[in-house]
Amino acid sequence: MTVSDPVVEDVVATIGRSATEIRQGLIGRRGTVDEENPSGETQAEADVWADELLGDRLTGIGGVGQYASEERAAVVDCGDDPATTDAYAVAVDPLDGSSNLTSNNTMGTIFGIYDAALPARGDALVAAGFVLYGPITTMVLATDEIVTEYELSGGERTVVERDLTIPAEPVVYGFGGRVPDWPDDFRAYAREIESELKLRYGGALIGDVNQVLTYGGTFGYPALESRPEGKLRLQFEGNPIGYVVERAGGRSSNGTQSLLTVEPETLHDRTPLHVGNDELIDRLEAALA
Ligand code: AHG
Ligand code: MN
Ligand code: MN
Ligand code: MN
Repeated sequence: MTVSDPVVEDVVATIGRSATEIRQGLIGRRGTVDEENPSGETQAEADVWADELLGDRLTGIGGVGQYASEERAAVVDCGDDPATTDAYAVAVDPLDGSSNLTSNNTMGTIFGIYDAALPARGDALVAAGFVLYGPITTMVLATDEIVTEYELSGGERTVVERDLTIPAEPVVYGFGGRVPDWPDDFRAYAREIESELKLRYGGALIGDVNQVLTYGGTFGYPALESRPEGKLRLQFEGNPIGYVVERAGGRSSNGTQSLLTVEPETLHDRTPLHVGNDELIDRLEAALA
């Protein structure tokens, strides 16, 4: 099942085809380079390699005016200006959870297709999704109509679930950061959730979010005492994941409002990130009010 907008379909198909290559290319690239990304984090060899591969391909698509990545300081202008034309801006987290490469655990690729110049609000997204390098390589893609899960193989994507929606009954939770670093109000909320749900935390946002989409529940990487702005990036992680979960019938929040309504200041803004069933996000926002 393809996407009706030909440029969006070309971007999604390109990422889908690249996923098989990225997965293969992880082998032998499990080290780090002595460079830091714009968020000040040491880059994995695979971060840099996946970003170059995706950048080369996505900047070559007609109708894509900007490419931005968690691994690059500046936006790459590669076509018409999305601010003044109908060109799109594509933002990627080429490898999410890349520190999991060392322990051979879940990782993924996150993408957002914005109908605006970057940095942009999440409600400028026209499509967003992620590839999950699990036992099976899958893609979850949200457009303004529907959320679809595909299996990726040999460059092809096969629908496995159409109209994916978050189950009504929450089952799992996962919270990032160290417990002593959680603010008291979040810790009180977390203790309630811990007494009700099962812990699922794998250290990669997309793996943990896919558990929430599959079983119901919530994932959060909260504002920390040491880091009130949180860890995760708004353009590359918060907006795309918030868009997917909201299109799947759940909610997203930075603790006070939908991630998709947060005004960005810079391309690499961090944000507290919470997604999941609406009543859990309601309770979170009440606890932090
Ligand atoms: P990335 O590998 O793209 O930098 O993202 C890592 C993020 C996210 O995937 C995950 O939720 C979080 O870091 C885990 O952080 P901790 O290692 O602090 O648990
Ligand atoms: Mn990183
Ligand atoms: Mn990430
Ligand atoms: Mn990353």
